[in-house]
Amino acid sequence: MSSFRHLSLAEKLNWISRQVELDHEQIAYLKNNSQNTAFVENFSENVIGSFQLPFSIIPNVHLDGNIHQVPFAIEESSVVAALSHAAKFCHQHGEISTYAEKPSILAEVFLPHLSTDKIQELKSSVHKIQMQLNDTVTKSMVKRGGGVTHIALIEKPPHFLLHISINPCDAHGANVACQVAETSCRILSKDHQINRAYGILSNYTDVLTHSACELHNLNSDLVDQMVDMNAFAQCSQQRQITHNKGVINGIDGVLMATGNDWRANSSNCIHYSAKHGPMTSWEKVGKNSLMGKLSIPLQLGVIGGLTTSHPTAKLALAILKNPSRTELSRIVAGVGLLQNFAALKAIASHQLVTGHMSLHVNNRLMAEGKSVNEKNIKHLQSLIQAQGYFSKDDIATL
Ligand code: MEV
Repeated sequence: MSSFRHLSLAEKLNWISRQVELDHEQIAYLKNNSQNTAFVENFSENVIGSFQLPFSIIPNVHLDGNIHQVPFAIEESSVVAALSHAAKFCHQHGEISTYAEKPSILAEVFLPHLSTDKIQELKSSVHKIQMQLNDTVTKSMVKRGGGVTHIALIEKPPHFLLHISINPCDAHGANVACQVAETSCRILSKDHQINRAYGILSNYTDVLTHSACELHNLNSDLVDQMVDMNAFAQCSQQRQITHNKGVINGIDGVLMATGNDWRANSSNCIHYSAKHGPMTSWEKVGKNSLMGKLSIPLQLGVIGGLTTSHPTAKLALAILKNPSRTELSRIVAGVGLLQNFAALKAIASHQLVTGHMSLHVNNRLMAEGKSVNEKNIKHLQSLIQAQGYFSKDDIATL
């Protein structure tokens, strides 16, 4: 076979069907999808189809006195339902405010076994290197108010690191950070004869985005339950991970819809949370009042990458009225906190399973090859109401 990526779509389908014995129905499914496939081929390689996700709207999300219609891409319907409910509930009971620190992305260069002479040389050249970078690779960013803002020299004897901070303006900055890292290696080789240098962006950021939610006139049981759920996440690392997953459900829904790199953010959030504990906190600030807080390291973009090239991501940004990077970060932080509120409230009131299951009835019917009709849906929903669950055997009898 010539390289898989050079085959036409028909040839790729032919090849894969022979390798793994796809049946006619499966091949027809891929062929019927070929228009979408041709489009997504612009974004990746070895493509044989497109993988679709629901694109939803969370209506009327009130943040900082503004109303947003939030585009959301996720396959878990209970997440959308719970978030929509939380947005309404929290607006009725209070308000959410958000704040984002100035954006920054890091390019990192590792210099193994650097001699003391070379370290001294670099210390006296660091400003020049910053200027060289801003005159070349980040020149257009400097014009927009960004560029390389600082280079930290870090000694890890016998090794050495350069941490190059970049203000990427409205872009995520991953591409420019990689270019800065590689350009730095070239400068180090040409001007300083340092040839063992390894450069790459870092997905780490200490730039935080915050949201805070103050809710009043709540049922005092709900206040106590939320405080208990907060303690649960503080007490158990096992719970903390699931607690944070709920936050990330909200964050990733917006990130996916707007074409942002959710993997980079998840990686950052994992590190942040391992260091600082749960990403949100809830405390009682009065018998019927609650204060929730979220702080997360977010690295988003509203220009470049998929945000500009994928029509659905572009549409999502248009639905959000084309926010700046900072505005989008603040919306995401607000949504993350709302999603966490929704999950904790559902768990505390023992409504999670029934809410989740009743929204998953359609999926389960499809998965078991049953017709998704009103009679079947109603039957399974009545089982959930009566006993809190339904089983595979219950579906089999339909
Ligand atoms: C499910 O996708 C997310 C939750 O498990 C989050 C949580 O437990 O807080 C409901």
